Amino acid sequence: MAKYLVTSALPYANGPIHLGHLAGAYLPADIFVRFLRLNGDDVVYICGSDEHGVPITLRAEQEKVSPREIVEKYHKIMYESFKKMRIEFDNFSGTARKDHYELSQKFFMNLYEGGYISKKTEKQYFDEKAGRFLPDRYIEGKCPFCGYEKARGDQCDKCGKLLNPLDLIEPRSVLTGEKPVIKETTHWYLKLQDFEEKLVSWITSNTHWKENVRNFVLGWIKKEGLKERAITRDIDWGVPVPLPEAKGKVLYVWFDAPIGYISSTIEWSKNIGKPDKWKEYWFDKETKIIHFIGKDNIPFHAVIWPAMLMGQKEKYVLPFDIPANEYLTLEGEKFSTSQNWALWVDEYLAEFPADPLRYFLASNAPETKDADFSWKAFQIKNNEELANIYGNFANRVFTFVNKRFNGVVPEAKYEELELNLFKEIEDKIKEIKYAYQNFSVREASKLMMDIARAGNKYFDETKPWSLKDDKRLKTVMNTCLNLLRILAVASYPIIPESAEKLWRMLGEENDIRLERWDSLGKMRIKDGQKLGNVEILFVKYEDEIIEKQLKKLYDKSKAKKEDNKMEYITIEDFKKIDIRVAEVIDVIPLEKSNKLLKIKVKVGEIEKQIVAGIKQFYKPEELVGKKIIILNNLEPAKLMGETSEGMLLAASNDDKSILSVLTVERDVPSGSKVS
Ligand code: MF3
Ligand code: ZN
Repeated sequence: MAKYLVTSALPYANGPIHLGHLAGAYLPADIFVRFLRLNGDDVVYICGSDEHGVPITLRAEQEKVSPREIVEKYHKIMYESFKKMRIEFDNFSGTARKDHYELSQKFFMNLYEGGYISKKTEKQYFDEKAGRFLPDRYIEGKCPFCGYEKARGDQCDKCGKLLNPLDLIEPRSVLTGEKPVIKETTHWYLKLQDFEEKLVSWITSNTHWKENVRNFVLGWIKKEGLKERAITRDIDWGVPVPLPEAKGKVLYVWFDAPIGYISSTIEWSKNIGKPDKWKEYWFDKETKIIHFIGKDNIPFHAVIWPAMLMGQKEKYVLPFDIPANEYLTLEGEKFSTSQNWALWVDEYLAEFPADPLRYFLASNAPETKDADFSWKAFQIKNNEELANIYGNFANRVFTFVNKRFNGVVPEAKYEELELNLFKEIEDKIKEIKYAYQNFSVREASKLMMDIARAGNKYFDETKPWSLKDDKRLKTVMNTCLNLLRILAVASYPIIPESAEKLWRMLGEENDIRLERWDSLGKMRIKDGQKLGNVEILFVKYEDEIIEKQLKKLYDKSKAKKEDNKMEYITIEDFKKIDIRVAEVIDVIPLEKSNKLLKIKVKVGEIEKQIVAGIKQFYKPEELVGKKIIILNNLEPAKLMGETSEGMLLAASNDDKSILSVLTVERDVPSGSKVS
């Protein structure tokens, strides 16, 4: 039995969770934790929301509320999404809590007293219009490394490099769009170079890390060198720097956030009534600390955070592994909140259950390269694997046993065929264990499904529907039920809800989580056990359902694009437009046109005629006597030989299949001005 502390990157409490988040740092961690528990390991799974920094204050400015309101709102929203996806942390804390402040300040003071922190007065961008310094994401510009136009002050989203805001090309303030000026300010720096030797030898010795992570970090250190990095900021939301001379300054969010892993563990200890329990994890060399993250977080977790830990007076355990994942794309494009190119977890869950998505994202995990979520691929995975292989196998077996054996597990007399099959499955179980332990959820998903494949194959080959020998039939069904029992446990880390369902259907009474991986292949279902009620495990999704989702996705981003491109007009512009109420006195269809109606109206005392293309939508008698709305000062024009002296206003949908002429809701006199 090994001891683990598993964490998922603390998500910024500045918005809801989308599929990209899930696939990188949360689902793989949850799967890993569920497996470890089945394996009998001691494990605590820790997370919380990252509640400081510019991501939060910017959002607060956008929503015109306080940062505290923002973090409370999104903390809840994120927690609910995780819960519904069955991402089950032992504790989900937040970094704007008292214990976290205290611990973060202690971390700072330890480093300070150890001589690892220096103070410098430096030049920084300042927005004169807003009267504020512009740290991190308050500034945007072109990346000096890759040329990406929207690089942020602290990091380039495109190439992943950490940046110094002063290096940005053509910088602009996110607050006002202004070109910033340079001003001096004092900050405190972590002297990373003091840890260089220790860090490099530690990283080099971590040969069990994923190749991409280890190489990335060593390359990063080589290229950027270990320099001093500012760990304080000029904003008014964060953990106050615990020095009297640093009034008004706060710790940089990336300094306090990882400390959240510890403060959340402390909170967990208190909650379970064992306030010192956290020390058994953080101070015991035997603990394997595993940080699940997305790749943009690698330098922070593999370099800066370990340095912070090394500089403490207490002897904290360093991370054992940092499985970082690549990115998930959506229909081939990068997720982008600003373009509304995103599939939010809540949006998904409003129409689909958690497991098909868990299975899809596990089978397509962005482990070594970027992976893609597409609705079509999701449909295929669900229909062809979950429903056609897993669900189908269960369905055939239950139908048969219910019909022939009254829903009771028949006894078996295994022959060569069965013994070989069980042997094959036992090997599979070992392979799955290896995959789970090595964070290969892709591989684990495939191998798990192989058990169901083997089950279907066995069913097809033994042809139970044509078996005359009752003994043989019993053996075959007993074997199938045993395969299902193994399948339930083996799939539990990936699709917990369905696995639990299958478990109940098998009539198992103990909690599935009490099963132990290493005995799984040898365990057999009890003869005579009464099966539970049959439930539907998976449903197939028809094309229409999937197309509807696709359309929704594209519509959302189109609407956002239009919104982003919105061209504003001033009230002066609007005043140029003369919109009036007009009474329809006569309507004459134009013979030569199948679209046009000639509409005679009275605007106050003035009579006019308007030619409008609404023939398919209105009969003349529907309009006569109505008070409609017209654009009165539109330059007159000739339409099919008829003069039109204004424009009738109407609303219609995108494909122009529905149209409604605007009228007035109360009886105002004709000629009234619309403003
Ligand atoms: N909030 C950061 C992000 O979303 C991750 C913080 S991880 C922690 O990129 F280690 F700092 F907690
Ligand atoms: Zn870049």
